[in-house]
Amino acid sequence: MSANPLDNKAQAWSALFSEPMSELVKRYTASVGFDQRLWRADIEGSLAHAEMLQAQGIIAAQDLADIRRGMAQITEEIEAGRFDWQLDLEDVHLNIEARLTQLVGDAGKRLHTGRSRNDQVATDVRLWLRAEIDGLAELLLQMQRALVELAARHAETVMPGFTHLQVAQPVSFAHHLLAYVEMFARDAERLADLRRRVNRLPLGAAALAGTSYPIDRKRVAATLGFEGLCNNSLDAVSDRDFALEFAAFSSICMVHVSRLSEEIVLWMSQNFGFIDLADRYCTGSSIMPQKRNPDVAELARGKTGRVVGHLMGLLTLMKGQPLAYNKDNQEDKEPLFDSVDTLRDTLRIMAEMVGGITVKPEAMERAALRGYATATDLADYLVQQGLPFRDAHEVVAHAVKVAMQMGQDLAELPLATLQGFHPKIGPEVFERLSLRGSLDSRQSIGGTAPVQVHAQIDAHRARLG
Ligand code: ARG
Repeated sequence: MSANPLDNKAQAWSALFSEPMSELVKRYTASVGFDQRLWRADIEGSLAHAEMLQAQGIIAAQDLADIRRGMAQITEEIEAGRFDWQLDLEDVHLNIEARLTQLVGDAGKRLHTGRSRNDQVATDVRLWLRAEIDGLAELLLQMQRALVELAARHAETVMPGFTHLQVAQPVSFAHHLLAYVEMFARDAERLADLRRRVNRLPLGAAALAGTSYPIDRKRVAATLGFEGLCNNSLDAVSDRDFALEFAAFSSICMVHVSRLSEEIVLWMSQNFGFIDLADRYCTGSSIMPQKRNPDVAELARGKTGRVVGHLMGLLTLMKGQPLAYNKDNQEDKEPLFDSVDTLRDTLRIMAEMVGGITVKPEAMERAALRGYATATDLADYLVQQGLPFRDAHEVVAHAVKVAMQMGQDLAELPLATLQGFHPKIGPEVFERLSLRGSLDSRQSIGGTAPVQVHAQIDAHRARLG
């Protein structure tokens, strides 16, 4: 067996180099510390490539058998934590290839025929991301299910709906939760949509211009389950817009999580007192014995910052790059990996935590009664009695002012007092001024009336399975 060229990094590229790389440069340029997590995709991609090379008569059947044998052993070594990752070998690709050659000799050296690390790494990242996307899709379903099941118990639990964080109109707690279900459902749609563009094969683009070997890219795509090919070799090795799309998706999804977290924190504070969280999701204070803090929700809100930051980082990484591959692209991995890790952990823990929310309906109702949440209902009632809406609005503004001075809710005022605001007000107004009456009246599609909310819950359940 001839010497393994990868044994000596100074010789890994060619005999052109007359001195070894400086230690500092070696550390600066190496990615093996973080890209080793691509190992499984790297081996899967290499096996598909080798099998195609053999089918096309580019390598021998014995070479393919040797490569398979070597890769099986490498898989075992990595899984067992016995693989010797070497910084000298720069990245996951060179590490695995060097070990393969050590194990099986020349067949290992033939693997890289018609391929470059440029199309290899783009393929690996796409394969890896595709699997992660499928895991995240499942977690998004779980998140939605947790919200829908909590909502199903609270279609009749009234809370104040807010605008400007001022009490606006009564809504049900279920209705509020279902707003988040809509957000996460759109996130799931975005994810499914971008998956189609992640799922295209760069391999075969080689370094940048394609290859002169009679390769069969469609075969490799089919083996690896790609839906299509990247059709331009320059684009295949250089663009990372699939990562940008993923980072945009993750950022939007985390922003949704963050808004929900913010509300959980508010609802749990003594000033709202709308919900309680199970102890296992709270932490205490080292100085204030009475404290139970919603740390998980706060951290989820906080971690949104890094995910949004990764989107900015990746966009900036791409913006000045000339075609085709540049080493800049090695910097795509850490932000991408961290976005996936953060989103995965966050969705998992949030879905669990939502399942552990205890609702305090009396506190929600009290808060709704405090803020004249049914003032619009009184105006709507007057419109039904024939007043133009603007006039009704005026009458009610006056009524609220008087009620505030008396320290009472509109529904608590005697009929005579209400009739003083407008003679057309009759006794049936009290039904309209009740929280439940207000809720029931909002039956427009997408409104908060329990019949609408129940219909939404049924539709979500059918969709989520
Ligand atoms: N580690 C590199 C990356 O992540 C692999 C591709 C290197 N290609 C090259 N021509 N230096 O992008």
